Amino acid sequence: MIKRLSLDQENDIKSTAKILSDVFPWSYGEEYRAIDEVKRLCEDDGIAYVYVVDETVKGIVGAKPQYGSTGWELHPLAVDKDYRHQGIAKTLMSKIEAAVVDKGGIVLYLGSDDEHFRTSLSSIDLFEDPLEAIKNIRNYSDHPFTFYEKIGYKIVGVLPDANGWNKPDIYMAKRLVKRPLNGDGKP
Ligand SMILES: CC(C)(COP(=O)(O)OP(=O)(O)OC[C@H]1O[C@@H](n2cnc3c(N)ncnc32)[C@H](O)[C@@H]1OP(=O)(O)O)[C@@H](O)C(=O)NCCC(=O)NCCS
Repeated sequence: MIKRLSLDQENDIKSTAKILSDVFPWSYGEEYRAIDEVKRLCEDDGIAYVYVVDETVKGIVGAKPQYGSTGWELHPLAVDKDYRHQGIAKTLMSKIEAAVVDKGGIVLYLGSDDEHFRTSLSSIDLFEDPLEAIKNIRNYSDHPFTFYEKIGYKIVGVLPDANGWNKPDIYMAKRLVKRPLNGDGKP
């Protein structure tokens, strides 16, 4: 079952924090950091949904407006490792995309780090020709960019060395609503 994450629900906050600390131990390994992050997801117009099985959160997705109401940033997306490849992330993404559109969003974007040499972008000096490197990207080890591509996101840029030498951030985005046409039928 999917539901909106609410700060009133202590149990959901705790089990969402556990997902974050299990999936991203380098950022949220300490419980208080994970709890703080979960609380932040609901602040400042943020929207977050959780996927709950037997009263325990097994997946989380969040988004916040960053460019007025039109451009929204997705963060975080995580599914418990025992529940992956069952369509939970895809379902959470549909839910958050619809919620963002409801709030006036037209584009949803995200940064997906490659800190552990999981794509071809981390095996070269990206500053030399970033656009060519994006065109030829390869997934070496289940990096989530392939998941996002499957649901309509495109790589729109990279930040070389964002997480250290040859550890880029990969930016992806999806247009959420049809672009209106002008009188001449062109966008
Ligand atoms: C990425 C993640 C959220 C996917 O969750 P999930 O619930 O397993 O994804 P789904 O089952 O909805 O997958 C939907 C599709 O994407 C594919 N997919 C899922 N993860 C994938 C990956 N890492 N690489 C390639 N394809 C992937 C699935 O096979 C499925 O394809 P299909 O529709 O053709 O069968 C999950 O692996 C995860 O939590 N990873 C760690 C955290 C993370 O990387 N978050 C993203 C940070 S930017």
